[in-house]
Amino acid sequence: MCGIIGCCASSSIKDILINGLERLEYRGYDSSGISYIENGKIITYKSVGKLINLKNKTKDININSSIGIGHNRWATHGEPSLNNAHPHISNNKKISLVHNGIIENYLEIKDILLGQNTSFYGKTDTEVIVKYIEYIYKGNPLDSLLTLNKVLKGTYALCIIFLDHPNKIFFLKKGSPLLIGKGKEEIYLSSDIFSLQNYTNLFLYIKDNQYGYISNSTYQVFEDGNYINTNFEKYDSKQIVEKLTTYNSYLEKEIYESKDVIKNIITKHINDSKIDFSKYKINKVIDNIENIVLLGCGSSYHSALIGKYIFEDLCKIPSSTYIASEFPYTPIIKKTNTLYILISQSGETADLISCLPLLDDFKLGIINVKNSSLSLKMDDNFFLEAGSEISVATTKAYLGQLTFLYLLGIYIANKKQLISKEYYLSLIQELESIPNKIKQILDNHQEIKDFSNIIKDYKNVFFIGRNLDYLTCLEGSLKLKEVTYIHSEAIPSGELKHGTISLIDQDVYTIALLSSNLRNKTKSNIKEIESRKGKVFSISTNDSNYNIPSTLEIFYPLLQIVPLQLLSLYTAENKKLDIDKPRNLAKSVTVE
Ligand code: AGP
Repeated sequence: MCGIIGCCASSSIKDILINGLERLEYRGYDSSGISYIENGKIITYKSVGKLINLKNKTKDININSSIGIGHNRWATHGEPSLNNAHPHISNNKKISLVHNGIIENYLEIKDILLGQNTSFYGKTDTEVIVKYIEYIYKGNPLDSLLTLNKVLKGTYALCIIFLDHPNKIFFLKKGSPLLIGKGKEEIYLSSDIFSLQNYTNLFLYIKDNQYGYISNSTYQVFEDGNYINTNFEKYDSKQIVEKLTTYNSYLEKEIYESKDVIKNIITKHINDSKIDFSKYKINKVIDNIENIVLLGCGSSYHSALIGKYIFEDLCKIPSSTYIASEFPYTPIIKKTNTLYILISQSGETADLISCLPLLDDFKLGIINVKNSSLSLKMDDNFFLEAGSEISVATTKAYLGQLTFLYLLGIYIANKKQLISKEYYLSLIQELESIPNKIKQILDNHQEIKDFSNIIKDYKNVFFIGRNLDYLTCLEGSLKLKEVTYIHSEAIPSGELKHGTISLIDQDVYTIALLSSNLRNKTKSNIKEIESRKGKVFSISTNDSNYNIPSTLEIFYPLLQIVPLQLLSLYTAENKKLDIDKPRNLAKSVTVE
């Protein structure tokens, strides 16, 4: 995923572009760049690596331009380099362009251009776009964009400046997010509202196949050659994240916000000890659901696994989970009355979007970002309303996803009268107590901090547990890997002895989760590890290295993941790593 921004202002756009790119950096940080029009020329600055490098390169540059575009890159085609950094420039230096997305037929288009002796300086699909525009351009950018949209295959959000239209920025959108923001004396284009929160709360989301332009006082949107009437919407500040405040990183901030996310979802959907989904369309199909398919990637796949457990345990509905990138290539036995649940924090994950054509029944999104590409394609959405999640490693969104899965599972089980009224009430009461139990963990976790000082020097870590504990191990292991770069692996504790135990020695640490009712079995697996000089850090409700509050068996995933998130945070701090922007990653992966 990349971040793009454009601005037509009444004064210098330098600070607006750089500030906007700072807020977009979570979308990718392999390189960054800006282009603007000044004294009849398009001027461009680019830097490899994080945005600070571009800031240093331009800090003494006086930019007297009121129109410009900017880009943060997460490399897809071509390594992070100056030649591959955006903005990309036409050979006649009269067009500059930034792009978020991936062009699937760029090589075919490149062949056409090479046949016209067009030269290329880099390896990206984006450079092909700007040179194709140069090839077809006859003076009217809107005509060129209409043609371009018929030629390109893939996903794209484009901001483009043309030297012969020095007061406008042109745009084209399909498959990647793009919005227009309206300020006092300026108009913006951006990948998300977060990047513009200091300048406006009036936004208009561009739809697929729409194109047009902005200037500092107006804008126009077109589709298939027709003008489209559009209006700005006011977005409350809750949807635009607050500043970092007292935390050292967004990861820390978002771990601490998790309990509030859970509480908000519960408060909004539980009235008078009853779960209320009456305003959702899902309510109309719930009685006929015969099977559930859950799809996600990364952490969202891990919450899908827990969702499967919930629906089969409470609702007795056969459920299956798929890693979204695998789903289109997996032999699936089609069944009737299927509920597809697509789980995604960003709602922009290409692997998930690519599954859509195969989903021929009711699609429910569990998504954080409203108006995201995926959410617009769902039959219904549970929006987490967790606020923007900036840290690349997801934490509060993961817990928000689980909360909705629990609510839906309990709701269906009660509706189908599969659980007693007493059990229904006890589940609701216990769920309502979870935010406070998470607060206890957040207020008291010195053992985790101390352990992070030990684990930081290890190269290999195992996470073991049984049943639901194992599913939490999967998420805990991903957190440790992506934030601390320590290799780790989650394995069912009963499986260890079937081969992997050969890796155990004094240089391996194992984190054992012992909250399930199978804890005694895992305790014997711990003995097997320790008898081979392996070291173990246990997390349970008592007599463990770190004790968490107790809860109902089914809810332990909501509690156990919090110390594991904190462990990853503190270990990365100890290793002095970039907490919110781990190497090679991006917040949402918009390429397959
Ligand atoms: C989570 O910490 C990772 N950053 C990653 O696995 C993420 O969960 C995955 O890319 C899916 O993203 P999504 O939830 O936005 O679809």
